[in-house]
Amino acid sequence: MFISPSSILSENYTHLKGNYMEKIIVINKINALKKQRNAIILAHNYQLPEVQDIADFTGDSLDLSMKATKTDADIIIFCGVDFMAESAKILNPEKTVIIPDKDAKCPMAEMVDPESLNWVKKDHPGAEIVAYINTSAEVKAASDICCTSANGVKIIQNCASKEVIFIPDQNLGKFIQRSVPEKQMILWPGMCPTHHNNIKKQDIIRLKKEHPTAEVLVHPECRPEVIDIADHAFSTSGMLNYMNKTTAQEFIIGTEKEMCYRLQKENPEKKFHSVPLAVCPNMKRITLEKVLRSMETLEPKILLSSDIIKRAKIPLQRMMDIGRVD
Ligand code: 13P
Ligand code: SF4
Repeated sequence: MFISPSSILSENYTHLKGNYMEKIIVINKINALKKQRNAIILAHNYQLPEVQDIADFTGDSLDLSMKATKTDADIIIFCGVDFMAESAKILNPEKTVIIPDKDAKCPMAEMVDPESLNWVKKDHPGAEIVAYINTSAEVKAASDICCTSANGVKIIQNCASKEVIFIPDQNLGKFIQRSVPEKQMILWPGMCPTHHNNIKKQDIIRLKKEHPTAEVLVHPECRPEVIDIADHAFSTSGMLNYMNKTTAQEFIIGTEKEMCYRLQKENPEKKFHSVPLAVCPNMKRITLEKVLRSMETLEPKILLSSDIIKRAKIPLQRMMDIGRVD
């Protein structure tokens, strides 16, 4: 879609930071290159509003993996963090997958590596390894099945073994364990700094005092004591889907704060309150300008060896076959 200079003062573009006209030129160039190169832009729900707005598809990590397998585009521009773009590459080895900033990495995914995993596996030889999608391709390659917060409970229920090594998010692991007491889950001590450190019980209590009629929705990456005082724990797209099921009009959102942009955009009549410090700095590394540069240069590409792709695809595909259950 071409944006004419006269339309730039419309309310739709008021969130564009900096020089409006420059941004509009960048957006027009991105849209032209998208057509020319047969590219698709996928963006996670935590991306900056201006990046979400130019994306062809915005979603949670499961939605984005599923979308990546259904596109006819030759090039996938992935606006998210490293493990998400890697998953798109694993599922589409023949396509060019580009992440506009190669330093957009998920710190939680870096909290587990294949070597340490092997050590734990030696102590629990019969246990299945369930890898949260927030893991590197190498770690996925050493795992039995993947999951996201949209299907974790179902995936663990489906495991054949009683014992499960769950990596790397201890909070998602504890959340899942509540629903599957019959499984013995060995939890890796990883966590998301944004959810674990920057969304505290006190933040939610304060917001509840300010907005007493609001429902509280949190992400399962939050600490158990935060989940305990919430009305529901959902994946990011699970929160969006919930809007079609509830009559509530006001919400406190315990996840990365940009989630409120998407929720507000799709539910203009409802009110959303974010936790001010809940920011994932890595998600914010991707800007419109970097998207344009990556489309011009077709860099930086996601490069994985064919052996890793082959092995990591097995647990990812097993998860995709189960799909969404939230
Ligand atoms: P979702 O799959 O819910 O989008 O979560 C991904 C993530 O990284 C949350 O911090
Ligand atoms: Fe990783 Fe947390 Fe950022 Fe999600 S919010 S990408 S888990 S650091």
